[in-house]
Amino acid sequence: MTLHRRTFLIGGLASAGVVLAGSAATAVAYPFTLGVASGEPAADGFVIWTRLAPNPLNADGLGGMTSANAAVEWQVATDATFTQIAASGTVTATQAWAHSVHVTLTGLQPGREYWYRFRALGHISQVGRARTAPAVGSSPALTMLFTSCSHYEAGYFTAYRRMAEENPDLILHLGDYIYEGGAGSGVRTHQPSGEITSLANYRVRHALYKRDVDLQAAHAAAPWVVVWDDHEVENNYANLVRADNSPAGGDFAARRTAAYKAYYEHMPLRSAQAPSGANLQLYRRLRWGSLATLHMLDTRQYRDDQACGDGTKLCPAADDPGRTLTGAAQESWLLDGLGQRLGTWDLIGQQVFFAQKLAAADGSKSMDSWDGYTANRGRLQAGWQSRGNTPVVLTGDVHRHWASNIMDNYATQNKVIGTELVTTSVTSSGDGNAADTGTSSLNPHVKFYKNQRGYVRTVTTPTQMNVDFRVLDKVTVRDYPIKTAQSYVIQAGSPGLLAP
Ligand SMILES: [Fe+2]
Repeated sequence: MTLHRRTFLIGGLASAGVVLAGSAATAVAYPFTLGVASGEPAADGFVIWTRLAPNPLNADGLGGMTSANAAVEWQVATDATFTQIAASGTVTATQAWAHSVHVTLTGLQPGREYWYRFRALGHISQVGRARTAPAVGSSPALTMLFTSCSHYEAGYFTAYRRMAEENPDLILHLGDYIYEGGAGSGVRTHQPSGEITSLANYRVRHALYKRDVDLQAAHAAAPWVVVWDDHEVENNYANLVRADNSPAGGDFAARRTAAYKAYYEHMPLRSAQAPSGANLQLYRRLRWGSLATLHMLDTRQYRDDQACGDGTKLCPAADDPGRTLTGAAQESWLLDGLGQRLGTWDLIGQQVFFAQKLAAADGSKSMDSWDGYTANRGRLQAGWQSRGNTPVVLTGDVHRHWASNIMDNYATQNKVIGTELVTTSVTSSGDGNAADTGTSSLNPHVKFYKNQRGYVRTVTTPTQMNVDFRVLDKVTVRDYPIKTAQSYVIQAGSPGLLAP
């Protein structure tokens, strides 16, 4: 892919020691080892991100930087060779934020491509491609990819490479961008070697992932919109309730604070989203012209503890009307946003399986998913029906592709009121098995299952969404090709999966 080749050439040139006029810091090693990223596209701009880390895996988490501030120059151009500069400036990187920078650009033109790069410590970064959202009132076709669950040890990040090659307008990551566990078995090994709990260790783990060239290619190819799930902190945590006993003890609030801070430092989020104490406001809305509205949820930070001790089981307490997955504030924020009908399509990007999925005839269900918070789901479903919405819910978490019709009543299967597309993982669960079956007569509204790794591609227009479930035959061997396992069409205003 030409974009990536250019990225490599510029990165290679800089790391070979290009000396910039006026720079005295030429002895410092190449600081852009974690690549560049853009995110949060709006009609007038986006965020550009990088982090200075000449020695990214240093155990102190400081990336080989000293306590000194560093000036980071940035440029945004309308062409890939930077002959037409649209905006430029300088921002200060500080050790307090691990020398990460988050520049929120405004004043750009809607609905077009831009290219960006940074310069610091005598070096020039790789080039990234970004895109502004279209203006309200216009609805050009949107090519969007979404994925989740990228465990470093479980496989190579080939899916990220293939995503970059698709030249999408937008990429969503729906959570489990890193995993918190210590070194295990797999095609490569986690650093630090133990389960991460401190700020230094979360920073090193993020740096380990961000050093991956396939991941860097995907970030450089398009703006990302990210939300976390559990493993950015700890498996199946709920708000400030820890779920694991490994490592035993510790102050979980302090651990979550460290994890949220490191997440912010490594993601192309707006500086306004920087964490404050133990909290980080992650749920938010993005508009893609008049075509689509992205309602991005956070189903970890505000949830009640999993009912009946978590797991997959029969648990009447899961149906308690007082239970919440979103928290009351996020629930009303979502319903309010759906009610505004800002675009043709309402896309709800979130973490855990939304539609009912019975695991056994006795009614056993997963307590970590929306099945463990059925009153919250019921209020949302009733709320969007009364507002005239037919949303598409985009989900990660379960390391499998799934596609479902969302039903008004799952017991009677009376009426399709929305559509759920669940992406498989980048690597988590390894190569998988294309022959596995997962659909069941217990869940007639669940139409598709595939146990392979990859991502989902959607091409959305004012009249329909074309959906392709993309898969790789192996992730434990590098460089497999991507292919489509299944396709569907969803008609605007008419919920449910149709044959293409
Ligand atoms: Fe996961």
